[in-house]
Amino acid sequence: MLDVQFPTTPEAVADWYRRGREAIPGGVCSSTRFNQGIGGPVYAASAKGARFTDIAGKEYLDMSMSHGATLLGHAPDFLKEAFQITWERGVLCSLDGPYHVTLAEELCKLVPCAERIRFTNSGTEATLHALRLCRAITGKEKIIRFTGHFHGYHDLIFIGGQPPASELDAAVAYRESPGIPQALADLIIPVEYNNREALEKAVAAHKDEAGTLIIEPVDYNCACIKPEAGFLELARELATKNGMILFFDEIQSFAKKSAGGAQQDFGVTPDICTIGKSLGAGIPLSAIAGKAELMDQFKPTGPVAHSGTFNAPLMAMLGGLGFVDHIKQPAFWTKIQMLGEQLYAGLDGIAKRSKLPVRIQSHGSRFGICFGTREPVRCYRDSLVHNPKTMLAFCRETANRGVYFHDYGGGPCHHGYSLAHTSADIDIVLNVVEDSLKVIG
Ligand SMILES: Cc1ncc(COP(=O)(O)O)c(C=O)c1O
Repeated sequence: MLDVQFPTTPEAVADWYRRGREAIPGGVCSSTRFNQGIGGPVYAASAKGARFTDIAGKEYLDMSMSHGATLLGHAPDFLKEAFQITWERGVLCSLDGPYHVTLAEELCKLVPCAERIRFTNSGTEATLHALRLCRAITGKEKIIRFTGHFHGYHDLIFIGGQPPASELDAAVAYRESPGIPQALADLIIPVEYNNREALEKAVAAHKDEAGTLIIEPVDYNCACIKPEAGFLELARELATKNGMILFFDEIQSFAKKSAGGAQQDFGVTPDICTIGKSLGAGIPLSAIAGKAELMDQFKPTGPVAHSGTFNAPLMAMLGGLGFVDHIKQPAFWTKIQMLGEQLYAGLDGIAKRSKLPVRIQSHGSRFGICFGTREPVRCYRDSLVHNPKTMLAFCRETANRGVYFHDYGGGPCHHGYSLAHTSADIDIVLNVVEDSLKVIG
């Protein structure tokens, strides 16, 4: 079974897609892996550094980098040693030890709000358990959140984030998938990001039932919207005054511009946060981090359940330790900044020259592309001008030219580079983007 043959002919490639669709819904293990821009999933054969190769043998320069998870590049060399250690120590699973403690200690030094850490596998799991903790501590069931932000796919919070325009001002929060109970939508209060008045109003109206204020501090999931000056500070102040837990979902924003995440970048410390994506250097790893008095409410020190067979397997801990080793080095951030300056200056120039109205917004190693405007996108409502068809054409044209931008259903989502990208790679990306826009526009 391990000796699966990779195809050498176009017929064999087509056959894998056919078999994939018969065995797996849509042939993909994550619904968003069906790339509408190129009319199907990319079945990959291998990856290294800033590139991956599909099963037809075509190489792509990767501008998704596993949605941000492979910030160090695909297959950073240290992982080889980590796999070896994992093997030698018996592929430890469902057992904690010194590696876990060391990684937790390191993260407590790096992330401003972190006094305790609990590891999970995915970001979705992390926000699920963190929200339960917040509700348990405050005794208040409602959650104030922001439109445009994304906090994972579970039923507690896949509500009111990215509604269709017709539902944006509806009285009840929009459920983002069939199957999510109405009763859970009644507990979600969506508010416009960067809108001080709307936030103040929502807090005043719901302070007795809402105990959690959850924020994706940089809204990478919608055109990369940064918090405007004073907005996170306002959220901090309102949460403190009204007995709410301020929860930064930094699954994506952790270690994108600095080792401490957006809370370090913007100087506002939440009570609790979730971090993930790049944390495991490509191995599944996320975490909940927060003040000791809150985190110690998890069993066995407190009453709140959080367990899982696959929490913190050894391989993930070693991936995390290797990642932390990298982000502690000033040279890491020098390179991330240097590549960003080159990329974003180039993209801004292309956007100005392009006939198509397009806006690029960035924070650290990731950025958003919004087609349909040249103006700043400050909130989800602003992003509704985005044209999904243009985005899909962009994904197709760039992929045809060997540069991979992931399709998020045509949405104005996030893209990014890694430590493994070079200045020459960024030049390639810029040329391909400019050529592609000329063809589309
Ligand atoms: C801010 C944020 N929270 C949560 C998640 C969910 O993480 P995962 O895909 O690991 O479940 C994501 C993933 O994109 C995210 O960007």
